Amino acid sequence: MFQHPFQLRGKTILVTGASSGIGRAIAVECARVGARVVISGRSPERLQQTMALMDAASSGGHVACEGDLTDMAQLDMLVAAAGEVDGVVHAAGISSLSPMRMLRESFMQNTLNNNFMAPLMLTQKFLFKKSLRNNASIVFLSSIAAHTGTVGLSPYAASKAALEGMMRCLALEIAPRGMRANALVPGTVDTPMVRAAPDLLEAQARMYPLGVGKPEDVAYAAIYLLCDASRKVTGTQLHLDGGIPWT
Ligand SMILES: NC(=O)c1ccc[n+]([C@@H]2O[C@H](COP(=O)([O-])OP(=O)(O)OC[C@H]3O[C@@H](n4cnc5c(N)ncnc54)[C@H](OP(=O)(O)O)[C@@H]3O)[C@@H](O)[C@H]2O)c1
Repeated sequence: MFQHPFQLRGKTILVTGASSGIGRAIAVECARVGARVVISGRSPERLQQTMALMDAASSGGHVACEGDLTDMAQLDMLVAAAGEVDGVVHAAGISSLSPMRMLRESFMQNTLNNNFMAPLMLTQKFLFKKSLRNNASIVFLSSIAAHTGTVGLSPYAASKAALEGMMRCLALEIAPRGMRANALVPGTVDTPMVRAAPDLLEAQARMYPLGVGKPEDVAYAAIYLLCDASRKVTGTQLHLDGGIPWT
């Protein structure tokens, strides 16, 4: 039977950070286009809210796994619970703001643990356990902060730049099995992460010719990178920056 390449029917996709914002939108939209979705996050209540949204958008069969991705033992449990998957979206991440003069090593370590080490080690564990099916697609959530200079954002920018550097090497290593790795590079997206900073969204909105993003905008791009329509796309960054001038 003809399978349209712009859908995820028959595929199992793991989405981290699915209890909020971008990860939640990716999980719901993946379910809507046919995927069986495994969701991960720390808050059981908000994971259940995502589960209800996915069930309403699809025929169900999804799985929720609660856990802290900075804990290696919990990463092992997540890999075991997810089983064999056709795609992983690493949407979990934290905002991290500190002027260089005030930066503490523990703060930087926490940023790297959440935004770089967690997606790196989760990917390593999936590869080691051979739990990624042939032709699987891995999607990392970077940020335009990795490409632009922003006062006070060096910890966050560094963690996302590290992610992109790692992704390009990974893409070459996994290509022989038809597997792919890419990064989404959003500008500001209206999520709880951004709303936690008072007035940031209003200030940012004026800078974007197409306006700030919605979580669904990132979800649609994630679906493109996960589905067979992008089967020759690997090692790339897909920018979702609303046309913001970078220089
Ligand atoms: N919003 C933006 O403007 C923007 C722009 C560019 C890139 N991004 C990136 O997009 C991704 C999603 O951001 P968002 O705006 O959707 O943020 P968000 O609403 O704050 O959601 C963050 C998600 O990550 C999960 N998470 C964080 N640390 C975790 C850990 N140690 N273990 C397990 N789960 C963890 C949270 O789980 P719990 O809530 O359950 O704790 C939550 O589901 C992040 O990587 C972010 O850097 C965001």
